[in-house]
Amino acid sequence: MGKVYVFDHPLIQHKLTYIRDKSTGTKEFRELVDEVATLMAFEITRDLPLQDVEIDTPVSTAKAKVLAGKKLGLIPILRAGLGMTEGILKLIPAAKVGHVGLYRDPETLQPVEYYVKLPSDIEERELIVIDPMLATGGSANVAIEALKKRGAKQIRLMCLIAAPEGVEAVQEAHPDVDIYLAAKDEKLNEKGYIVPGLGDAGDRLYGTK
Ligand code: PRP
Ligand code: URA
Repeated sequence: MGKVYVFDHPLIQHKLTYIRDKSTGTKEFRELVDEVATLMAFEITRDLPLQDVEIDTPVSTAKAKVLAGKKLGLIPILRAGLGMTEGILKLIPAAKVGHVGLYRDPETLQPVEYYVKLPSDIEERELIVIDPMLATGGSANVAIEALKKRGAKQIRLMCLIAAPEGVEAVQEAHPDVDIYLAAKDEKLNEKGYIVPGLGDAGDRLYGTK
Protein backbone atom coordinates (compact mmCIF):
# COMPACT_ATOMS: atom_id res chain seq x y z
CA MET A 1 0.00 0.00 0.00
CA GLY A 2 1.21 3.52 -0.81
CA LYS A 3 2.59 5.54 2.08
CA VAL A 4 1.12 8.88 3.16
CA TYR A 5 3.40 11.72 4.23
CA VAL A 6 2.02 14.90 5.84
CA PHE A 7 4.55 17.72 5.73
CA ASP A 8 4.38 19.34 9.15
CA HIS A 9 7.01 22.04 8.51
CA PRO A 10 5.90 25.16 10.42
CA LEU A 11 6.09 27.40 7.34
CA ILE A 12 3.86 25.03 5.38
CA GLN A 13 1.34 24.83 8.22
CA HIS A 14 1.36 28.62 8.77
CA LYS A 15 0.77 29.44 5.12
CA LEU A 16 -1.87 26.71 4.80
CA THR A 17 -3.90 28.42 7.52
CA TYR A 18 -4.15 31.60 5.40
CA ILE A 19 -4.91 29.54 2.30
CA ARG A 20 -7.85 27.97 4.14
CA ASP A 21 -9.16 31.30 5.51
CA LYS A 22 -12.15 32.48 3.48
CA SER A 23 -11.14 36.13 3.90
CA THR A 24 -7.93 35.53 1.89
CA GLY A 25 -8.44 37.08 -1.57
CA THR A 26 -7.47 35.67 -4.97
CA LYS A 27 -4.09 37.42 -5.27
CA GLU A 28 -2.88 36.39 -1.83
CA PHE A 29 -4.37 32.89 -2.19
CA ARG A 30 -2.44 32.36 -5.44
CA GLU A 31 0.81 33.63 -3.91
CA LEU A 32 0.43 31.42 -0.85
CA VAL A 33 -0.33 28.30 -2.91
CA ASP A 34 2.78 29.04 -4.98
CA GLU A 35 4.91 29.44 -1.82
CA VAL A 36 3.59 26.27 -0.18
CA ALA A 37 4.20 24.34 -3.40
CA THR A 38 7.86 25.45 -3.30
CA LEU A 39 8.19 24.36 0.33
CA MET A 40 6.54 21.01 -0.44
CA ALA A 41 8.92 20.56 -3.39
CA PHE A 42 11.80 21.01 -0.93
CA GLU A 43 10.38 18.21 1.24
CA ILE A 44 9.45 15.82 -1.58
CA THR A 45 12.94 16.01 -3.09
CA ARG A 46 14.67 14.88 0.13
CA ASP A 47 15.39 11.44 -1.31
CA LEU A 48 16.78 12.52 -4.70
CA PRO A 49 19.97 10.60 -5.46
CA LEU A 50 23.32 12.39 -5.31
CA GLN A 51 26.61 11.58 -6.99
CA ASP A 52 30.18 12.40 -5.98
CA VAL A 53 32.18 14.99 -7.90
CA GLU A 54 35.54 16.60 -7.36
CA ILE A 55 35.77 20.38 -7.74
CA ASP A 56 38.31 23.13 -7.13
CA THR A 57 37.37 25.68 -4.51
CA PRO A 58 39.52 28.86 -4.32
CA VAL A 59 41.42 27.09 -1.50
CA SER A 60 41.83 23.43 -2.49
CA THR A 61 40.20 20.54 -4.27
CA ALA A 62 37.06 19.18 -2.62
CA LYS A 63 35.03 16.02 -2.87
CA ALA A 64 31.46 17.25 -3.19
CA LYS A 65 28.02 16.11 -4.29
CA VAL A 66 25.62 17.05 -7.07
CA LEU A 67 22.21 15.71 -8.01
CA ALA A 68 22.56 12.50 -9.99
CA GLY A 69 20.25 13.90 -12.64
CA LYS A 70 17.16 11.78 -12.05
CA LYS A 71 14.57 12.60 -14.69
CA LEU A 72 11.48 14.15 -13.16
CA GLY A 73 8.13 15.13 -14.58
CA LEU A 74 5.40 17.29 -13.07
CA ILE A 75 1.82 16.48 -13.99
CA PRO A 76 -0.61 19.18 -12.83
CA ILE A 77 -4.28 18.23 -12.99
CA LEU A 78 -6.04 21.17 -14.68
CA ARG A 79 -7.06 23.63 -13.56
CA ALA A 80 -6.10 23.86 -9.94
CA GLY A 81 -2.86 21.88 -10.20
CA LEU A 82 -1.48 24.71 -12.33
CA GLY A 83 -1.48 26.91 -9.23
CA MET A 84 1.24 24.72 -7.69
CA THR A 85 3.37 24.10 -10.78
CA GLU A 86 5.51 27.25 -10.96
CA GLY A 87 6.25 27.01 -7.24
CA ILE A 88 7.66 23.51 -7.71
CA LEU A 89 9.58 24.47 -10.86
CA LYS A 90 11.44 27.13 -8.83
CA LEU A 91 13.28 24.27 -7.11
CA ILE A 92 13.20 21.69 -9.93
CA PRO A 93 13.61 23.85 -13.04
CA ALA A 94 14.70 20.99 -15.29
CA ALA A 95 11.53 18.97 -14.75
CA LYS A 96 9.32 18.43 -17.79
CA VAL A 97 5.65 19.29 -17.37
CA GLY A 98 2.69 17.29 -18.68
CA HIS A 99 -0.95 18.27 -18.29
CA VAL A 100 -4.04 16.22 -17.53
CA GLY A 101 -7.33 18.11 -17.88
CA LEU A 102 -10.19 16.85 -15.70
CA TYR A 103 -13.24 18.40 -14.17
CA ARG A 104 -15.54 16.90 -11.63
CA ASP A 105 -19.16 16.65 -12.73
CA PRO A 106 -21.02 18.54 -9.98
CA GLU A 107 -23.94 16.06 -10.02
CA THR A 108 -22.17 12.70 -10.17
CA LEU A 109 -18.81 13.87 -8.71
CA GLN A 110 -17.22 11.71 -11.42
CA PRO A 111 -14.13 13.15 -13.16
CA VAL A 112 -14.45 13.93 -16.88
CA GLU A 113 -11.18 13.86 -18.89
CA TYR A 114 -10.82 16.63 -21.52
CA TYR A 115 -7.08 17.00 -22.17
CA VAL A 116 -3.89 14.95 -21.88
CA LYS A 117 -0.50 16.18 -23.12
CA LEU A 118 2.60 14.50 -21.70
CA PRO A 119 6.38 14.47 -22.18
CA SER A 120 7.27 11.77 -24.74
CA ASP A 121 9.55 9.89 -22.32
CA ILE A 122 7.26 9.52 -19.30
CA GLU A 123 8.20 5.86 -18.86
CA GLU A 124 11.74 6.98 -17.92
CA ARG A 125 10.64 9.72 -15.54
CA GLU A 126 9.59 9.83 -11.94
CA LEU A 127 6.29 11.70 -12.17
CA ILE A 128 4.69 13.91 -9.53
CA VAL A 129 0.96 14.37 -10.03
CA ILE A 130 -0.06 17.73 -8.57
CA ASP A 131 -3.49 18.85 -7.40
CA PRO A 132 -4.33 21.02 -4.39
CA MET A 133 -7.35 18.88 -3.46
CA LEU A 134 -7.75 15.13 -3.01
CA ALA A 135 -11.47 14.80 -2.21
CA THR A 136 -13.20 11.60 -3.37
CA GLY A 137 -9.95 10.64 -5.12
CA GLY A 138 -11.74 10.21 -8.44
CA SER A 139 -9.71 12.86 -10.27
CA ALA A 140 -6.35 11.69 -8.95
CA ASN A 141 -7.18 8.07 -9.79
CA VAL A 142 -8.22 8.92 -13.36
CA ALA A 143 -5.09 11.05 -13.83
CA ILE A 144 -2.80 8.31 -12.49
CA GLU A 145 -4.59 5.77 -14.71
CA ALA A 146 -4.09 8.04 -17.74
CA LEU A 147 -0.34 8.14 -16.99
CA LYS A 148 -0.03 4.39 -16.44
CA LYS A 149 -1.94 3.70 -19.68
CA ARG A 150 0.73 5.70 -21.49
CA GLY A 151 3.64 3.86 -19.90
CA ALA A 152 4.41 5.70 -16.64
CA LYS A 153 6.05 3.48 -14.03
CA GLN A 154 6.99 5.71 -11.12
CA ILE A 155 4.31 8.06 -9.84
CA ARG A 156 3.86 10.13 -6.67
CA LEU A 157 0.88 12.29 -5.78
CA MET A 158 1.27 15.70 -4.13
CA CYS A 159 -1.76 17.61 -2.78
CA LEU A 160 -2.30 20.44 -0.32
CA ILE A 161 -5.29 18.93 1.45
CA ALA A 162 -6.81 15.45 1.36
CA ALA A 163 -9.93 13.88 2.77
CA PRO A 164 -9.49 10.42 4.31
CA GLU A 165 -11.87 9.08 1.64
CA GLY A 166 -9.59 10.32 -1.16
CA VAL A 167 -6.46 8.89 0.43
CA GLU A 168 -8.14 5.51 0.80
CA ALA A 169 -9.42 5.54 -2.78
CA VAL A 170 -5.95 6.22 -4.20
CA GLN A 171 -4.32 3.66 -1.92
CA GLU A 172 -6.81 1.07 -3.06
CA ALA A 173 -6.64 1.81 -6.80
CA HIS A 174 -2.90 2.56 -6.96
CA PRO A 175 -1.04 0.89 -4.09
CA ASP A 176 2.29 1.74 -5.75
CA VAL A 177 1.70 5.52 -5.44
CA ASP A 178 2.90 7.39 -2.33
CA ILE A 179 0.91 10.47 -1.32
CA TYR A 180 2.44 13.74 -0.05
CA LEU A 181 0.19 16.25 1.73
CA ALA A 182 0.25 19.48 3.70
CA ALA A 183 -2.83 18.30 5.64
CA LYS A 184 -5.22 15.37 5.98
CA ASP A 185 -8.62 16.78 6.92
CA GLU A 186 -11.64 15.37 8.69
CA LYS A 187 -14.13 14.28 6.01
CA LEU A 188 -16.09 15.07 2.87
CA ASN A 189 -19.44 16.83 3.05
CA GLU A 190 -22.54 15.81 1.10
CA LYS A 191 -21.39 17.88 -1.92
CA GLY A 192 -18.00 16.19 -2.00
CA TYR A 193 -16.14 19.16 -0.51
CA ILE A 194 -13.35 18.61 1.96
CA VAL A 195 -14.22 19.66 5.53
CA PRO A 196 -12.81 22.01 6.73
CA GLY A 197 -10.77 22.26 3.49
CA LEU A 198 -10.38 25.53 1.64
CA GLY A 199 -13.44 25.59 -0.61
CA ASP A 200 -13.14 25.25 -4.38
CA ALA A 201 -9.44 25.44 -5.19
CA GLY A 202 -9.90 26.35 -8.88
CA ASP A 203 -12.39 29.11 -8.11
CA ARG A 204 -10.23 30.56 -5.35
CA LEU A 205 -7.11 30.50 -7.55
CA TYR A 206 -8.69 32.05 -10.60
CA GLY A 207 -11.48 34.18 -9.13
CA THR A 208 -14.28 32.23 -10.85
CA LYS A 209 -17.45 30.93 -9.28
C1 PRP B 1 -11.06 19.91 -8.05
C2 PRP B 1 -9.65 19.63 -7.58
C3 PRP B 1 -9.44 18.21 -7.98
C4 PRP B 1 -10.80 17.61 -7.79
C5 PRP B 1 -10.79 16.82 -6.50
O1 PRP B 1 -11.09 20.15 -9.41
O2 PRP B 1 -8.71 20.52 -8.13
O3 PRP B 1 -9.00 18.03 -9.31
O4 PRP B 1 -11.74 18.70 -7.69
O5 PRP B 1 -11.98 16.14 -6.33
P1 PRP B 1 -12.09 14.56 -6.37
O6 PRP B 1 -10.95 14.04 -5.53
O7 PRP B 1 -13.41 14.30 -5.75
O8 PRP B 1 -12.02 14.10 -7.78
P2 PRP B 1 -12.44 20.54 -10.19
O9 PRP B 1 -13.15 19.32 -10.63
O10 PRP B 1 -13.23 21.49 -9.33
O11 PRP B 1 -11.91 21.24 -11.49
P3 PRP B 1 -11.09 22.61 -11.70
O12 PRP B 1 -9.70 22.40 -11.15
O13 PRP B 1 -11.10 22.77 -13.16
O14 PRP B 1 -11.82 23.70 -10.96
N1 URA C 1 -12.48 20.20 -5.12
C1 URA C 1 -12.18 21.38 -4.51
O1 URA C 1 -11.71 22.31 -5.16
N2 URA C 1 -12.42 21.48 -3.21
C2 URA C 1 -12.92 20.48 -2.47
O2 URA C 1 -13.11 20.64 -1.25
C3 URA C 1 -13.22 19.27 -3.12
C4 URA C 1 -12.97 19.16 -4.44
